[in-house]
Amino acid sequence: MALETTTLFDEADALSRQIDASPVGNAAELEAFRIQFLGTKGLLKQLFGRMGEVPADRKREFGQRVNAVKELAETKFNDAKTALEAASAQAGPDFDLTLPPLPPVPGSRHPINLVRQKIVDTFARIGYAVAEGPEVEDDWHNFTAMGTPEDHPARDMQDTFYIAGHANMLLRTHTSPVQARVMESQKPPIRIIVPGRTYRNETISARAHCVFHQVEGLYVDENVSFADLKQTLLYFAQVMFGEKTQIRLRPSYFPFTEPSAEMDVTCLICHGEGCPVCKHSGWVEILGCGMVDPQVFENCGIDPERYTGFAFGMGIERIAMLTYGVDDIRLFTENDLRFLEQFKAEA
Ligand code: PHE
Repeated sequence: MALETTTLFDEADALSRQIDASPVGNAAELEAFRIQFLGTKGLLKQLFGRMGEVPADRKREFGQRVNAVKELAETKFNDAKTALEAASAQAGPDFDLTLPPLPPVPGSRHPINLVRQKIVDTFARIGYAVAEGPEVEDDWHNFTAMGTPEDHPARDMQDTFYIAGHANMLLRTHTSPVQARVMESQKPPIRIIVPGRTYRNETISARAHCVFHQVEGLYVDENVSFADLKQTLLYFAQVMFGEKTQIRLRPSYFPFTEPSAEMDVTCLICHGEGCPVCKHSGWVEILGCGMVDPQVFENCGIDPERYTGFAFGMGIERIAMLTYGVDDIRLFTENDLRFLEQFKAEA
């Protein structure tokens, strides 16, 4: 009997240690604590219930001991409860979880991307496949293969970013090097459209940027003529800008085409009437083009006796500016939502 009594007193001590160690850091823990120790079937009630096992002369002492443990539990419970209530009052009013969510704000396609896609789609309809090439290019593909050997004055046409520490590596100044890459690796017939980012060491202004985008086109087969080029470009201009659009070709010079031309279209804003965008001429320049120079074929391993071809290249920013009436090229890279949001309807 004496031994059992000691055990009950030990149990009261163990229970007080257990109370000390139990976590009450949040509402769930606090409720679990209450049920475990202070509930109607809790451990304290159970221990009180064993009063009958205690010898008469020690009942009083045992009752006091268990009461002390009960007080310990109650104090811990009440303190934690007060602390949790204070913390949740500080966190502000409860959220109203029945409110409907804010409507999601949908993004929109970037205007450069919209124009690029429209150009690619227009040529896809007549059998052109998309090709791509590296933006960090070697001197051979960007210049030499394209008819601009070292010390050739035409290199001055394009101010180039060279890669420090890598002789002959540069950021491509146009998408034309992809012409050379495709001709080196594929046999005619070749019919490709090449959208991509290009770089030139230009002072950034409303009209020029050092990072911009081009789309290149290349068609190589037997008997490809200048008439094919002209008809292809007329088709493109009318799908892209409207079926009333007219084109005109002016003689020009590029190191990789012969003959070369620049193409104008009737002004996208005034449709030829004359306005500030076309400087009252009724025409705006859209792209450069020409027949692939036989020397370029030779550089890329294609027989110039058997094949002819045409190529063209255009700046996406320029077309986007003319299409949407944007007067500052820097708007395309500033990520101002007030600007970008205007193109939502087109997405
Ligand atoms: N690569 C030329 C440029 O950047 C454009 C062009 C491409 C001209 C293909 C003719 C043929 O200005």
